[in-house]
Amino acid sequence: MEKLTSGRYNLRGPRETLPTANGSSPPHPKKKWYNLVPLVVLFVVVAEIAFLGRLDIANNSAFVDSWADLLYRSPGITSEMAAGGGDDLSQGIEMGAGSCEEWLQREDMVVYSRDFNKDPIRVADSEKEWKACSVGCRFVSSSEKKKPDAGFGISQPVGTASVLRSMESAEYYIENNVAQARRNGYDIVMTTSLSSDVPVGYFSWAEYDIMAPVEPKTEKAIAAAFISNCEARNFRLQALETLEKAKIEIDSYGNCHRNHDGQVDKVETLKRYKFSLAFENSNEEDYVTEKFFQSLVAGSVPVVIGAPNIQEFAPSPGSLLHIKDLSDVAEVSKTMKYLSENPKAYNETLRWKSEGPSDSFKALVDMAAVHSSCRLCVHLATAIQEKEEKSPSFKERPCNCTRGSETVHHIYVRERGRFKMESLFLRSLTLEALESAVLKKFNSLKHVPIWKQERPDSIRGGNALKVYRIYPLGLTQRQALYTFRFSSDSDLKAHVENNPCAKFEVIFV
Ligand SMILES: *[C@@H]1O[C@H](CO)[C@@H](O)[C@H](O)[C@H]1NC(C)=O
Ligand SMILES: *[C@@H]1O[C@H](CO)[C@@H](O)[C@H](O)[C@H]1NC(C)=O
Repeated sequence: MEKLTSGRYNLRGPRETLPTANGSSPPHPKKKWYNLVPLVVLFVVVAEIAFLGRLDIANNSAFVDSWADLLYRSPGITSEMAAGGGDDLSQGIEMGAGSCEEWLQREDMVVYSRDFNKDPIRVADSEKEWKACSVGCRFVSSSEKKKPDAGFGISQPVGTASVLRSMESAEYYIENNVAQARRNGYDIVMTTSLSSDVPVGYFSWAEYDIMAPVEPKTEKAIAAAFISNCEARNFRLQALETLEKAKIEIDSYGNCHRNHDGQVDKVETLKRYKFSLAFENSNEEDYVTEKFFQSLVAGSVPVVIGAPNIQEFAPSPGSLLHIKDLSDVAEVSKTMKYLSENPKAYNETLRWKSEGPSDSFKALVDMAAVHSSCRLCVHLATAIQEKEEKSPSFKERPCNCTRGSETVHHIYVRERGRFKMESLFLRSLTLEALESAVLKKFNSLKHVPIWKQERPDSIRGGNALKVYRIYPLGLTQRQALYTFRFSSDSDLKAHVENNPCAKFEVIFV
């Protein structure tokens, strides 16, 4: 079992990059509750003034919002203290316009028993502190006395979550299959599968200069191959032979059918070829390795054997050729010949290099803007809080407020990759209202997307936020990106009504 969690992953670990300070949440204030007493007193005063109807809270909601958030974030403040005895508000019928929100903000304010700033998530591994992580996150040596929250490998002490982490294909290591890993007793699965709890992909913005310019295709052969091992559990060898028989000229730099010296820089070499044979050693969903991403960097159109869902990884429609099975080879070789003889058509396949990749590509690969170790900590901390939310005191939160014919719903939203939830209010349970409330909230916070510092300059975009997806917290990335959608307003309505103080994640592109 242990070997699964070492090897390739560890080689890769240091190359993954963490977002810079700019790309992550500001550190939470470490104030003790008594430092906030003046604010609490102020709250009482504001609350009373509001109750007396002398202050239109609606006009001051920005002020109240940010300040309530401060209290929300600060451990040690109980809801009673923060409420400052302003209970009358909940009964007030003559309240000013913003008061349902005001009341919910206060009543729903929950204080978790664990402050991750002071008591970070601890994962047994080699010592490392993930400073830029949006939740306290430390990897600690297993010799430490205090029991860690999680550790790699199946055998962990009671109370420590067992984590399977591997970047190998489940076709070669059946233990890496998500369902199999769960049957084997792992609490948390980290594999290339987007259905795993914390996916670990091969891509990172730092490692792959995706927007590197296309260079002239100077080689006589139209395709290059770097296949080190001819033995694989798929048909890649037969496909290679069939392409050769179809008179596709291939320069092969790997051990398999080598006809060129392999001591070359792979990406620099690929840049000179129109096509790159990105043949993986197994055809498994989401198993997409450097073979594919290096082809994208090189601007050499990938001809793929591998993940059946490889089109989901395409930087734009029509930017790759997929050999799904041997019978596709004839058709694909025709397309390769056609494209290589028609510069205009060939140019189209690489248009994304000048125009930028699609939103769906960005939404997929931006996941890697946050290191998988930090995403593991966010996952663990989220689970710890969700467990605590099952306690009665949390269940007593109202989460909605009805005044006359209008109901205001209190929901929470965070950006994928971050830990902290933002508080939002919905007066109407429609998908449009949800998206506009999210944009309004995050714009008011001058939110900087987590990928901002990671993506190459040319595709960072301006300052305007664009929502790609909003989905309930807890979905896998496969669900979030591809299979889940609220089908209608009533679908969203049912979700919010059945999940008091519902939590969501948003992906910006
Ligand atoms: C292909 O596209 C590039 C820009 O991406 C352009 O400079 C070049 O002229 C195009 N070639 C053809 C044949 O259209
Ligand atoms: C308001 O919240 C209560 C308690 O969670 C719930 O029973 C009720 O259905 C909610 N009302 C609406 C309209 O969502």
